[in-house]
Amino acid sequence: MTSVLDFARFKAESRKISMVTAYDAWSARLVAHSRVDAVLVGDSAAMVMHGHPSTLPATVAVMALHTRAVAQSAAGKFITTDLPFLSFRKGIAAAMTAVGVLMRHGAQAVKLEGVDGHEDVVAHIVGSGVPVMGHIGLTPQSVHQLGGFRVQGRDDEAAARLTRQAHRLEELGCFALVLECVPAGLAAGITAALRIPTIGIGAGAGTDGQILVLQDLWGVDTSRAPRFVRRYIDGEHLLTDALDRYDADVKSARFPGVDESYS
Ligand code: KIV
Repeated sequence: MTSVLDFARFKAESRKISMVTAYDAWSARLVAHSRVDAVLVGDSAAMVMHGHPSTLPATVAVMALHTRAVAQSAAGKFITTDLPFLSFRKGIAAAMTAVGVLMRHGAQAVKLEGVDGHEDVVAHIVGSGVPVMGHIGLTPQSVHQLGGFRVQGRDDEAAARLTRQAHRLEELGCFALVLECVPAGLAAGITAALRIPTIGIGAGAGTDGQILVLQDLWGVDTSRAPRFVRRYIDGEHLLTDALDRYDADVKSARFPGVDESYS
């Protein structure tokens, strides 16, 4: 059973933290049976589960449904849920309503992207007793402002901005910080300078932990292949092969058998 306190402990012990996304009950059950430390109900659900080209269509209601499904199946894992697009940019009251919905659906922490312009919201959520995970670098909710899903922090000015934002999120009380798509050296430097753990995705090996989208790790969607993904199984072929074998069995009347039928 992982708790928010373990994140600080893992960093103190230089023990790497493993995280994956999960959006539904069956995959959360498999994650629960694994040694992976913690789960993110990411707003990447909008892309992975609903087929949208970005995370923008995710709403609080959608994230709440995914959170409940995951929480029911991954009870032993620490569950963080993304505050979706604009849900924390309409003032503290609206943000707290969103946080309340997600926490009541089973989240144990929330994650939000960026910090500039909503420091008060981060401080208020933390002050309300809800753990907050920060997220800087490539922040997909700002994809249109960033001009696409691209590496961030490559020049000195951008690197300095990310470093400042990382320190600010730590000061505001975040328990961990996602660094997405930033140069490995910059991520390692931020990690060394912070007391809170960093969780990298496309940020090299120098962060305190890593997160991958579960479907990327399982290789179930080969149409998406960011450089930072490592596919641990060829899920796409395994699963379509199972479907083809089922199809063949149905069409040749080999399925169902006697043992799979009622007398
Ligand atoms: O929504 C998501 O999956 C995320 C991870 C990529 C960190 O925010």
